[in-house]
This record gives sequence, structure tokens and C-alpha cells, in this order.
Amino acid sequence: MKKFLDLISEEIMQAFEDAGYDRELGRVTLSNRPDLCEYQCNGAMAGAKKYKKAPIMIAGDVAAKAEDSKLLAEVAAVAPGFLNIKVKESAVSDYLKKMAESERFGLEPPAKKEKIVMDYGGPNVAKPLHVGHLRSAVIGESIKRIARYAGHEVISDIHLGDWGLQMGLIITELKERKPELVYFDENYTGEYPEEAPFTISELEEIYPTASGKSKEDPAYKEKAMEATYRLQNGVRGYRALWEHIIKVSVTDLKRNYQNLNVEFDLWKGESDVHTVIPGMVEYMKKEGYAHMSEGALVVDVKEDTDTKEIPPCMILKSDGASLYNTTDLATIMERMEKLHPDEIIYVVDKRQDLYFEQVFRCARKTKLVDKDTKLKFLGFGTMNGKDGKPFKTREGGVMRLETLISEINEEMYRKITDNREVPEAEARETAKVVALSAIKYGDLSNQASKDYIFDIDKFTSFEGDTGPYILYTIVRIKSILNKYKEQGERLENAVLQEAVSESEKALMLQITRFSAMMENAFEETAPHKVCAYIYELANDFNRFYHETKILSEEDEKKKAGFIALLVLTRDILETCIDVLGFSAPERM
Ligand code: ARG
Repeated sequence: MKKFLDLISEEIMQAFEDAGYDRELGRVTLSNRPDLCEYQCNGAMAGAKKYKKAPIMIAGDVAAKAEDSKLLAEVAAVAPGFLNIKVKESAVSDYLKKMAESERFGLEPPAKKEKIVMDYGGPNVAKPLHVGHLRSAVIGESIKRIARYAGHEVISDIHLGDWGLQMGLIITELKERKPELVYFDENYTGEYPEEAPFTISELEEIYPTASGKSKEDPAYKEKAMEATYRLQNGVRGYRALWEHIIKVSVTDLKRNYQNLNVEFDLWKGESDVHTVIPGMVEYMKKEGYAHMSEGALVVDVKEDTDTKEIPPCMILKSDGASLYNTTDLATIMERMEKLHPDEIIYVVDKRQDLYFEQVFRCARKTKLVDKDTKLKFLGFGTMNGKDGKPFKTREGGVMRLETLISEINEEMYRKITDNREVPEAEARETAKVVALSAIKYGDLSNQASKDYIFDIDKFTSFEGDTGPYILYTIVRIKSILNKYKEQGERLENAVLQEAVSESEKALMLQITRFSAMMENAFEETAPHKVCAYIYELANDFNRFYHETKILSEEDEKKKAGFIALLVLTRDILETCIDVLGFSAPERM
């Protein structure tokens, strides 16, 4: 389906042409004076020079030609040469009817369907999730859903941090605590136990302890490096232990991500490419891309046009160990071979931007990636507390994600029980659903690359630019629709009518913008555009609602028209929150 704005543009372009001017001048935009008109065109001003005519004359000629348009109710030439445009009520309602009947509300499939790999989440095994991981998951999940909605194929990969020194640290600490375990006996040839010899809470306590010790005690660190080396080189018991660590940790991660409504197609990790690394290193050496520098193997990635220093990309350390970027490069190689993506998008803290610049340059230079495959780094800003500093617990420690979520759940539960709309039995579940909207909307409504302030009071408010406000609006619509059904009517029979008030028309016009908005949100990988749109849509709906008697309307046809508009508004809002990664309850 054509976009509504394009339909209007076409009319005005035709009018320019009919009046003897260049049709390209006829492009229309949304009005920036909504009090005067709905759309505007500044083409007459742009054409004045070329036609050596006063803009108002050109505008007048065009307006005359547009007079009997089927779409436009009013095209007025106003000084010094603007065209102020209003559309016909019938044109809007006809368009909405078609939207309601079309798949994806008339959003056209893309000209070329892309295959996109998305790398987000990126938690580290055996370390508790903290608030920094929240942003990657929330933003990545939304971009994935937007891309899918826009008609592309997306494969999401969590890219677990499961292979570095952190694994050696955990193994070393386990060895100190439980020296009796069979895993540590080099001569052991039997089976390893089914059950992991630790729980997730033990594991999460072990890592910080081990990491602390290694910072203070060089001998301990030495042991951890040794353990990492043994693990990476396949000592059987270490591998078995490592597998247990992964299993326990992944089970816990899956539960956490499920609570966040975040899903991954692939649960691959850094470790998955360890077998690919030797071949990749060989290839880089053989082709002459990599060379030795101070004992390490590096690839130069500087370019003549650089204004800042871009250090070489280190592939192997002097002890032969691989690094974070070695696994990232090998992962690119593997993704190219197995998945052939048109694009790989990384959603990672923006403080890693130089790192990704190096990795991308290295991947291009060494031809690990096809010429036409795009590599995109989407760096997100820091989540700060109200004091403007990185978010911490009251005691000043790193805030665990689970703690944060349960605090918001509590706050939401309190508000929902205060409201008394929801039976007690449902209140906990509802609170969770609404809390998720508060967290996600609070994050996604900001441009991802910016830092933002995590403000529980603001995010959980039912008023203003918040998730709960959007959900409240949806719930309000659902409740009206339920009452309509209780009056014995069927939603399916309700037919859209022409708008009868200014607020109704404004709501309808907002709906017509859906497909352009979604396309733009995909192109700019910008969930905040979806947020901005539904905030306006919710405002438009609420204004209409406050000015209109819907259920008590006596004219049945008119009433059914309102109802059909409500159904469409609800469906658009629910589609949008779904791509943002949350959902609405039945009541709240
Ligand atoms: N595990 C990493 C961290 O916590 C993030 C991984 C980001 N993705 C990647 N392909 N490097 O910092």
C-alpha cells in the first residue's frame, strides 16, 4: 500500500505539473503549524528563482489546479508562498479501512529482503547479569523485532562470554575449595558426574572472589592463566568442569532473559570458534596480513585518513593465547561461512567503539567478510542513576539486574493494588507485565547512543511519556471494547466512518503514519522512533476519548465507526509494543 503522505504528495506534484511547473517541487510534509493545516508544501518558494515569479503567484496557480482533487479538502496559497493543505475526511477513513484489511497495516515488504545476524546480550558465563547487560538485551531485542516486522530475516545470537581468563579463574577457585573433585585428577579416565558440583548462587559468588584474589596475588593469577590454558588446550577434566559451568549458568541466563521477554535463536559463545582460530591465524599469516610485533601477532589497521590513533589489531598474544578480538574475528568468519548474512549488527556498550572499529577494519582487510556485507556497531550509552553517575545500589555496589527488576516489580505492585482495578490474585502477574513496560520503554524512548537516567518514579508513572501510560491507554480501549461486546454487539461488524470531530480526524491521521514510521525505525535502527510514535498516538487517542461519548452515542452507525477506530488504534498500539518487546495486560 502506498504511504498516505505519498498519495498527498502525488496530488500536489500533479497540480504543479498541470500548472506548468516542475513536479518535483510538489513534495509535501507534515504541517509544522497543525493549528492551520494538516500538511504543507514549500515548493513554490523553492521554485521562485527558477521561474522568476513571486512564490505566492506559483502557489496560487497550484492551488487552483488542486481544486477538484478527490483527496484534498483544501489547498490554500498563503503568504509568502506556502501551500497549506487539509485532506478530506473520506480520504482518511478510506485509507484506514484499507490499512485495517491489509497485512501489516499496509506496510510494504522491503525491496530486498536482507539476512541480518544480530549480536546482542553478550552476557558472561558465571557472572551475574548487571544493569549494563540490560541495555544490550532490551535494545537488541527491539531492533530484531523491528527488522523482522519490516520483512527481513534476522538471526539473533547471544554471543556468550565463555572462553577467557574468567573461566580459568573459576576453575582455580573451585580447585582450592573442592580439591577432592575428580575433574582435577590428570590420570582420571572414568565418567564425570551428571550433576554439577555447585549451584548457580555458588558460581556467582565464586567469580568475584577469584577475580579479587587474582588482583592481589600474582601467584593466584598465574594459576588461573595456567588453568585457562589447560582448558583451551583440551584437558579432559577441565573441559568437563567447564561444561558444567556453562550448563548451570545458561539455565539461569535463559530464565533471566525469558523474564525480560528476550529470545535468542543461537546460544553460541566465544568458545564455539576456538577450533576455527588456528586456521584463521594460519590464513592471516599466509596471506601476509598478519605480522609479528614485540612477540605478538598483529594486523595493522590504520588508514591514511585517520585523525586519531588506531592501534593494530592483536590476533595472538606473545604466549600464543587468543584474545577477545580473536574470537570476534573468528566468529565473523564462521558467520560468513555458515550464514552468509547481508549485515551483522552488534549492540554493545559504546565504550567498545574503538575496539569494534579495529575488528571491522581487520575483518575487511583480511577479507574475512564479503565486500557487500555490512558490519554495523550500535553503541549504547550508560544507564545512570538520578545523580547522573552510573547506576549503583544504595550501598554503592554494582546493581544486579534481578535486584533492579524486583524493585520495579514491587513499585508497580504497590501502584496496581492502590488502583484496585485488578483482583488480588492477578496483581502480581499484572505488576510484572507493567514493570517490564516501564523498564523497556524507559530505556528505548531515548536514542540508544545517549546515556540516560534511570528514574524509577518517572518510569513507573501512569502519566507522561512512559510504558505504563501506553499500557493504560491500551487497557482503556480494551475495556470500552469489552463493554461494547457486553451490549451484544460484534466488533467485526463495526465499520469505520468519516471523522466527525477534529480530535477524531487527528487520531485517524496519526494512524495513517504507521508504515512510514516503522520503515524509518528500521532504516535508522531506532526503537525510540516507535516510542515517540505511540506516545503521540496515545495522546491523540486520549484527547479523542475525553471529547467523545463513545458507548452512549445514539447514532448506531457513528458509534460503530468509533468502535472500528478503537479496534484499529488498539491493534496498532499492540503491534508497536510488541516490536518494543513488551505486552499489555487485560486490566491494570
Ligand atoms: N561479553 C562482552 C562484555 O560483557 C560483550 C560481548 C559483545 N559482543 C561481541 N561480539 N563482542 O563486555
